[in-house]
Order: sequence, then structure tokens, then C-alpha cells
Amino acid sequence: MSKQNLDQESAFAIEYLSKVSKEAEKIFEEHLPPVADVPNRLHESMRYSMFAGGKRLRPALVKATFEMFGGKGDKIKYAMSALEMLHTFSLIHDDLPCIDNDDFRRGKPTNHKQFGEATAVMAGDALCIRAFELMAKTGSARALEVLANKLGTYGMIGGEMIDIECEGKSVSLDTVDYIHYHKTAALIEASLCIGAILADAPEDKVKAIERYGKAIGLAFQVVDDILDIVSTTEQLGKDAGSDIERGKATYPSILGLEESRKRALALYEESIKELDALSEDTKVLRSIAAFIITRVN
Ligand code: IPE
Ligand code: IPE
Ligand code: MG
Ligand code: MG
Ligand code: MG
Repeated sequence: MSKQNLDQESAFAIEYLSKVSKEAEKIFEEHLPPVADVPNRLHESMRYSMFAGGKRLRPALVKATFEMFGGKGDKIKYAMSALEMLHTFSLIHDDLPCIDNDDFRRGKPTNHKQFGEATAVMAGDALCIRAFELMAKTGSARALEVLANKLGTYGMIGGEMIDIECEGKSVSLDTVDYIHYHKTAALIEASLCIGAILADAPEDKVKAIERYGKAIGLAFQVVDDILDIVSTTEQLGKDAGSDIERGKATYPSILGLEESRKRALALYEESIKELDALSEDTKVLRSIAAFIITRVN
């Protein structure tokens, strides 16, 4: 697909994300504890990071998949909040001095810069716990299990751990694949699978959507690595150049920028093949795949 066509596809996703963001922020408002409640400062810090902006990709994925498979009703709102809370928890902890030591996130000082490390650690913990409480309200034990699995030591946390262990080392492409798949693609897969599960989609379709998620999830992190090099802190709303500074295992560090771009495009094509095999209306997911490889922040 030409760059122009990809940009056209992506424009639809940008509009969709902006619509979902507005809806999602109203839902978060209801699902987050008020600052007026004790412990006030902790609630303030959870809200600080949740309302600092962000693309709201994971709530958009869970909602789009739920609706694509004919899901109806309000339970999806719990899943939208849960996924964004878990993502925000991962960002707050990822930015801590003992992990990536970053100062900016979503265009603002990172949570620990604003509230101190102890509060940031607890804000992350509290968002994670609240997310599971909300997901339980969907009534789906399977959704809870998928979420825990994709987040745990065989999922996101596993990826973050190996990411840290590999700092400053020269690593193989397989290791970078492991890191990227676990730290980033797993939560994206979870969003898609949970949307499908809550809509009672048949098992083969849950699997197909998971494979689509693996491809776009990896592409998402390849592009994140590229943007860390070619973009600015201003444009990203987070510290550019952080990967090189910390000697991170990234795609560009192994393959270079051009090969990394080709890899993102190949993953995009893989993801579209999965959608082509589905009989549902995949327009939103198709456009989100294009957005992921053309995005500038
Ligand atoms: C950043 O995620 C962390 C990665 C998984 C690369 P996003 O780029 O989705 O961050 P926000 O939510 O838009 O801030
Ligand atoms: C983020 O990886 C993955 C998680 C937060 C789980 P990065 O460390 O590359 O994300 P950014 O670049 O800080 O957003
Ligand atoms: Mg990191
Ligand atoms: Mg980071
Ligand atoms: Mg990054």
C-alpha cells in the first residue's frame, strides 16, 4: 500500500480515536476515586496520569472489537477503563528512576517528578488493582484470566524485566522480539481478545483477532523505537532519545532505521491478512493498523 493510501486509512483511525477519547474520559471520571476521598494525594496522582492525554488506543481497540463482533451493552465501559488504567500503571512504573528514569510523559512531568517516587509507585499499584476490580464487574472470569496472563511474568511484566536486564548489552533480534512482544504487544492483544470475549465471539475468531493484535502490537513498539530516534520530546510528549541514552535493546539498534521501517510495514501486512479472513466489518481495525505504522507520536 502506498504512503498516501496508508495516510488516508489512518485518518479514519485518528477520527475514531478522538471520538473514543472523549467518551472514555467521561467513563474514567466515573471509575476513578475522587480527589476528595482519602488518601487524597494518591487519588490526585492517579487522576493526574490518567487525564494527562494519551492516544487511548487500548480502550479504542477493546470497544471496536466488541462492536465488530456484535457486542451490546454497558459492560464494555468497565473494560475500556480497566485497559487504560493498566496501560497508565505500566507507564508510571516504566518512567520511574529505577526503570527508564524519564521526566516527561503525555506532555507533562512524569508522575514521580510531580508527586515523588513513593506516591508514583502506589499510584501504579492502585490503578492496576482498580482495573481488576472494574474488569470483574463485566462478569467474565475468562476476561480476568486473559488480562492477568497478558500482564504477568509471561506477558508485560516479563517484557519489562528482560528490557531492563538487556540494557547496555548487545542482544539478538530474537531477544528484542521477546521484549517487544511481551512489554507492548501483550496488552494490545489483551484489549482485542477481551473485546471479542465480552461479545461472545467464537473461539477461532478470538484467536484470529489475537494474531492481528500480535502483529500490530509488535509494529507499535517498532514504531515507538523509531520515533524515539527521529522525533522530538515536544512532538512525542515524552523524552526522545531515551533509548540510546540507556542503551536499550531496540529494533533500530539492531537493524537500523530503514530495516525497522520495513519490518513495521511487513507486520502491518500480516495484520491485514488476519482481518481479510474475517467476515465481520473490520474497517476500524484496518484503519488502526495503518495509524500504528504512520503515527507521529
Ligand atoms: C507508550 O504507549 C508505551 C508503549 C507501549 C510504547 P502509547 O504510545 O500508547 O502511550 P499513550 O497512551 O498514547 O500516552
Ligand atoms: C514501554 O516501553 C512498555 C511499557 C510501558 C510496558 P518503552 O519504555 O519503550 O515505552 P516509552 O517509550 O517509555 O513510552
Ligand atoms: Mg521502558
Ligand atoms: Mg520507557
Ligand atoms: Mg519507547
